[in-house]
Amino acid sequence: MNYNIALLKGDGIGPEIVDSAVRVLEVVGKKYGHTFNFTPYDIGGISIDNNGVPLTQETIDGCLKADSVLLGAVGGPKWDTLPGNMRPEKALLGIRSAMNLFTNLRPAKLYPALKGECPLREDIVAQGFDIMIVRELTGGIYFGERGTRQGKYGEEAYDTECYSRMEIERIARVAFETARKRNKRLVSIDKANVLDTSRLWRKIVHEMASEYPDVECTDMLVDNAAMQLVRNPAQFDVIVTSNMFGDILSDEASQITGSIGMLPSASLNETTRGLYEPIHGSAPDIAGQNKANPIATILSAGMMLLYSFGLSEEYNNIVTAVDKVLEAGYRTADLSHGAPYLSTTEITDKIIENI
Ligand code: IPM
Ligand code: MN
Repeated sequence: MNYNIALLKGDGIGPEIVDSAVRVLEVVGKKYGHTFNFTPYDIGGISIDNNGVPLTQETIDGCLKADSVLLGAVGGPKWDTLPGNMRPEKALLGIRSAMNLFTNLRPAKLYPALKGECPLREDIVAQGFDIMIVRELTGGIYFGERGTRQGKYGEEAYDTECYSRMEIERIARVAFETARKRNKRLVSIDKANVLDTSRLWRKIVHEMASEYPDVECTDMLVDNAAMQLVRNPAQFDVIVTSNMFGDILSDEASQITGSIGMLPSASLNETTRGLYEPIHGSAPDIAGQNKANPIATILSAGMMLLYSFGLSEEYNNIVTAVDKVLEAGYRTADLSHGAPYLSTTEITDKIIENI
């Protein structure tokens, strides 16, 4: 088969980690008889430099007509002082919205080989964990009305959160279906003791739970969830939560897997098209040094094969190759604790050897 993939390398370590994933995809393509055609487009800071805006119509159109999109990371100190709607991060929100990518799947699992990297107590680590975070991605406070104004005490700023029934139902449905295919346990995370959006969220999740009697569905307040994630991560199977809570909890979950450099993600809409990206940022401090961990991006490319193209054998091949490289003791800088480590290209070579 022939697949057209839009490449949004972005800023910082983005180009290096996307190049690694492209090399892995090419080898997988050769092995299984697929052709992947890659078309690069600007996004984020590089787009500001080249085009004056973080996200151009050309990039949006390119992503919309591609079979799928692979993204590195955006942002960096060079663009940090720009006004909010001109920042590189705005492009990320823009492309998610333009593609209607309301579902963000962020799997956080503890690799047996990385147990030593988990900062938690030994008895907690021994239990392991394998969590699928289902984060709502195109609504909530990241997309609400915001602004600055003169208030009673002078300058003030505000951001608002709004969730419609439609938005909650469609993400909850994805979460229930996901739980159904896994261990059938769903925790819906909210702040229903304070927020109206959370109360609506909770009400709708409860209504829908009756459609999924085979899924054990419980609620958890987000502050408690942040604590439970480090107290007993094994209790979680599937988590569903809003855009902002999912953003925060997925970073927390990533760190207990050993490194944020390990966590891939898939952003999906109602079609098979998606956008795949590591959950980490552009790490400007190590950009261009061939030092970044490309595994999250390689696994994101793997998720593309699975979710957009239905290539489960190819997906498993990538996951197993990563497993083997970690089992063999190879580490990138983020996982090395000062010990010798492999560069971005070297660990990619090792993964490719195992494809
Ligand atoms: C992420 C990032 C983005 C988000 C930022 C850069 C807009 O933190 O993908 O988690 O909040 O979604
Ligand atoms: Mn984030």
